[in-house]
Amino acid sequence: MLITFGSAGEVLARSVAGTLGLPLLEPNRRVFPDGEQYIRVGSDVRGQDVAVFQSLAYDPDRLLIEYTLLVDALRGGGARSVVGVIPYLAYARQDSVFDPNEPVSAKLIPRIIESAGTDRLITIDMHLHRFKSPSDVFTVPALNLSAMPILAEQYRKLVHSSAATVVGPDLESGQWARVVAGLLDAPCMVLEKERLGDRDVRIRGELPLKGKAALVVDDIVSTGKTMIEVIRWLKQEGANRIDALVTHALLVEEAEEKMKNAGLDELICSDTVPGRQGTVSVASIIARALKKS
Ligand code: R5P
Repeated sequence: MLITFGSAGEVLARSVAGTLGLPLLEPNRRVFPDGEQYIRVGSDVRGQDVAVFQSLAYDPDRLLIEYTLLVDALRGGGARSVVGVIPYLAYARQDSVFDPNEPVSAKLIPRIIESAGTDRLITIDMHLHRFKSPSDVFTVPALNLSAMPILAEQYRKLVHSSAATVVGPDLESGQWARVVAGLLDAPCMVLEKERLGDRDVRIRGELPLKGKAALVVDDIVSTGKTMIEVIRWLKQEGANRIDALVTHALLVEEAEEKMKNAGLDELICSDTVPGRQGTVSVASIIARALKKS
C-alpha cells in the first residue's frame, strides 16, 4: 500500500506511513490564478492500493474538491484501489431537511466522495444522529473508528478525577458520552440542547452536581457555544471542576479561550483537525485499521 495526502492530511499521513513503514507520495499541487486547483501524483501508482488522507476541517469545500481531484488522478494513473482516510468528515450535521428546499448534505457529500473513485472509507467519530451508521449514507464500505477510548485514557492520566460525572450536551452526544462513562466507570447524564441559531444554543437539565467534577463529552466543538452553555450551567449547578473531551476540535472564533473564560479547566481533543497536533493522536488507530485491511 502507498499513502498520499491532501493539504489537510499531511501530518497524519506522515505519522501513519512512518508507523506502518509504507511509502509516502507527496502530490504536486498548485492553484490557478482564478482559484481552480491542480494536482498531480508524480509517481507510478499502477496496480497499487493507495490510502488518501484528507481532513475536511476549516475549508471543507476546497479540501473536498482537492480530495476528489487526487482520487481521480490516482484512478486515472491505474491505482488498483483507493481508501479515503477522512478523519473529520464535514457536512454530517445537516442530516435532514429541517426547512423546505434544503439539501441533505450528510448524504450528498458521501456521494461526491464515492463518485471520485473511493473504494472504501475510514473516518473517526462521524457525526451520526438521524443516520445511525455510515452505511446509511455511503454505498462503499465505510469504517467509523472512535477516538473516545484514547481520549478517555488521556483524561484518566491528566485529570484522574474518580468522582467525575460524564455529561453529554445533547441527545446525539449520548452515544459518545455513554462510551466514555463506561470506560471511566463514571455516571453519565445527557442534557437537552435547543439550537436558537448558528451561534446560539440553550441547555436544559437537572443534575445533582454540587461539589463534583464534570467531564463534558461531544464529537465536535466548533464555535464553542454548546460547551459554553453547558459549562455555565454546570457552574450554576455547583460543579467544582469542568473538563471537556472532544474528538474534532474545530475551535473557530477563539472558542477555546472563550470556553476557558467560561470556566473550562482542560480540553482534551484529538488531532483529526489539522493544527491540533499537541493533543491525542488518532494515528495509531488509523494505522491499526489500515494494517488489518
Ligand atoms: C452538534 O450537534 C455537535 O455534536 C456539536 O454539539 C456542535 O457541532 C458544536 O457546535 P458549537 O461548538 O458551534 O456549539
